Amino acid sequence: MRSVAVVSMGGSPGVTTLVCSAASAGDRPVLVIEAAPSGGAIAARWRLDVRAVVNTTARLAMDVSGTVDLWAAAHHPWLGQARVLPAHPSAVVMRQSQVCRWLADRLPTVTHPVVVDAGRVDGSADQLDLLSAVDAVWVLVDPIVEQVTAASAATGWLNKTGTVGLLVRETAGDPARASAASVATTLGWPVVATVPEDRPAARALCGLSPPRRNLHRSPLLRTGGALAERFTAAESEVATG
Ligand SMILES: Nc1ncnc2c1ncn2[C@@H]1O[C@H](COP(=O)(O)OP(=O)(O)O)[C@@H](O)[C@H]1O
Ligand SMILES: [Mg+2]
Repeated sequence: MRSVAVVSMGGSPGVTTLVCSAASAGDRPVLVIEAAPSGGAIAARWRLDVRAVVNTTARLAMDVSGTVDLWAAAHHPWLGQARVLPAHPSAVVMRQSQVCRWLADRLPTVTHPVVVDAGRVDGSADQLDLLSAVDAVWVLVDPIVEQVTAASAATGWLNKTGTVGLLVRETAGDPARASAASVATTLGWPVVATVPEDRPAARALCGLSPPRRNLHRSPLLRTGGALAERFTAAESEVATG
């Protein structure tokens, strides 16, 4: 299994956008699974009607037969060879259907590389199970003081999940933002990548504006492609290398 989960500590540093960029950038068959306990954004952004035919992670988690093939159940609305299982947009539905625990049990059955959008760290036992079931957890932080402080209070909990790496939003010249190196020193996790400020590509990946012809050459898609290489590579290379 080659799987990675991306999480945030607070705010909205761009987890969902980055996960979509990693899936969109490569031409490999990656499965994106959105499992944010606070509810998902992908279905709404891509106009997938969760009341009708669309399989969300919440709907699948409530299927008692337990035999679902996640790759076969997933959608491919925009991501080339990648497929996506969006979360339900509602936190209430996500919690009622216990998506994190269900997914922790199902992940070993998936044969494709998986990237999980695990949303914000909430410290729950269910989320601990999910993050422990993937090969690596990548924590995305915008290096402003509240996110770094929140992350440093959660390092002990996150370290229990296994291998942890850091994704740091670039500072864009803002002196109030710390460098990736200093965030790594504070938190004790290696930097997997820095994530560029790239509004046009982020808007396209959020379904807010049509993609430009050269979207694949944008800074955010290049970062996504490099990350996709990491989790589609051999298991031994997934960690931080
Ligand atoms: N790298 C980026 N550069 C510029 N804007 C971004 C970037 N990543 C995300 N955004 C924007 O920030 C907002 C939140 O992104 P989202 O991916 O939903 O965050 P999260 O999943 O962490 O809550 C969106 O409007 C998105 O377009
Ligand atoms: Mg999100």
